[in-house]
Amino acid sequence: MVRQSSLVVVANRLPLDDNAAPDGACEWRRSPGGLTSALHTILEQTPATWVGWAGGLGPAPALPDIGSLRIRPVALSETELRGYYEGFANSTLWPLYHDAVEPPVFDRDWWETYQAVNVRFAQATAEVAEAGAAVWVQDYHLSLVPRYLRALRPDLLIGFFLHVPFPPPELFMQLPRRIELLRGMLGADLVGFQRPQAAHNVAQLAAKLLAAQSTDDQITLADGRQVRTGAFPVSIDVAEMQSLARRPSVVTRARQLRRDLGEPRRVLLSVDRLDYTKGIEHRLTAYSELLRDGRIKVRDTVVVQVAVPSRERVDSYRALRDRIEGEVGRINGEYGRVGEAAIHYLNQPFDRAELAALYRTADVMVVTPLRDGMNLVAKEFVAAREDGAGALVLSEFAGAADELQDAFLVNPHDVDGLKDTLLRAMRAEPADLRARMGAMREHLRGHDIIAWARAYLTALDDSGRLANQLPLAGGPKARGAAAKARAIIPRSRSVARRRPPA
Ligand code: ADP
Ligand code: G6P
Repeated sequence: MVRQSSLVVVANRLPLDDNAAPDGACEWRRSPGGLTSALHTILEQTPATWVGWAGGLGPAPALPDIGSLRIRPVALSETELRGYYEGFANSTLWPLYHDAVEPPVFDRDWWETYQAVNVRFAQATAEVAEAGAAVWVQDYHLSLVPRYLRALRPDLLIGFFLHVPFPPPELFMQLPRRIELLRGMLGADLVGFQRPQAAHNVAQLAAKLLAAQSTDDQITLADGRQVRTGAFPVSIDVAEMQSLARRPSVVTRARQLRRDLGEPRRVLLSVDRLDYTKGIEHRLTAYSELLRDGRIKVRDTVVVQVAVPSRERVDSYRALRDRIEGEVGRINGEYGRVGEAAIHYLNQPFDRAELAALYRTADVMVVTPLRDGMNLVAKEFVAAREDGAGALVLSEFAGAADELQDAFLVNPHDVDGLKDTLLRAMRAEPADLRARMGAMREHLRGHDIIAWARAYLTALDDSGRLANQLPLAGGPKARGAAAKARAIIPRSRSVARRRPPA
């Protein structure tokens, strides 16, 4: 018999990995990426079901529960992976929604597959949702699920949250299937975004394409159904990052990292998925020109660029990796010396403790996306700076810039401005940095991931029924569960993620 839940979360990816532990078990590892980072804290402690893709190809593996969380895997074939995930989601919608910083590809065959996979997710969700359940659909991969699900199960309360930006109407209008896509999302009762501008864009499009009556917080469709919209800026598990950064082993590791880097005066750090939206090339240009102009020296200033592999079968990602690795090689070749690299480039995933140690090591955290829904890395850096030191250079085009106003805000397209801002951040007075960091930390304390989920779920159902299932913000329960966040899954049942066959 199918077990049903009163809260179902639907996201393309399941938070499972076949990262082999020494005992052959598979670990409940957070994948690099904002969505699973954000949701894992809430869900590992909440009685709910997560419907998602297990990362491999072919029939879905049977996966056991993870604590109170049930897992309902959805299968994808090789053709579906190409058309739905690599194609429509990551070669059409992802670039289109990120200001078309890379040209979106419009391929008619992908649309069919995207629809078919969205139907499958809706069907799987309909099976595991109990009568009157709340369903929270996540992100651009699943834009059509709210509408399909409503048709299958009109009794459900349906929320949709978009983790990425929603583009201005003039860009969205390029999408050949714009009407179907908008209708799909607006199948939800509540559509949440990272920034208020996104809700405004959708309101304009609903009026134009669907003849809806719209304001920035409510859309009345032609059939009279009402959809609420709003901004709910996502966040991180602040308590977890703080307690990690405080650990003696992490403090020691941060000191060690600094020694390994040759005790430079300034460490500049960036941590990204290797994605063309992250502005990695722009910051390499700025750094290289600062070296060329003699405004900084390699012995004094070292860059650490963590760029975790992502979507590696998609052409634009492969091409980006080649360009970045070529540029890193050029800069190191030109400005490095034996034992003194200009850039330490790390194309690997790290565990949370190592990330916390890296954050503690940095004098300047450089976050320069050309467009980003939020950017959780910026928030993680702030949460990790227990010592109140460190500067954050942050792109105006990241959602996080709305909240972290005390960062050194920058337009990454303006390379001269970026160079000047990097220097300002490197040379800032400790008292100035402390004041900025203090204000940003204060903001984050009141706006962590639990507060985000609470705000969204309360907006979805104001009886408090859903929000009451969430763990308390930063409480001991949250930290205790985070410490034990490893579910044992027999190796034979583990799934491959992120590296489907080439
Ligand atoms: P995006 O959602 O586009 O990937 P975010 O900055 O919002 O960008 O989220 C990235 C998440 O991935 C963060 O939680 C970050 O800690 C994690 N992450 C980034 N790089 C790595 C890495 N090398 N190893 C492990 N996790 C990583
Ligand atoms: C962004 C998207 C997520 C996605 C993540 C990692 O954060 O908003 O939906 O999961 O990137 O990308 P991937 O393609 O590996 O799932």
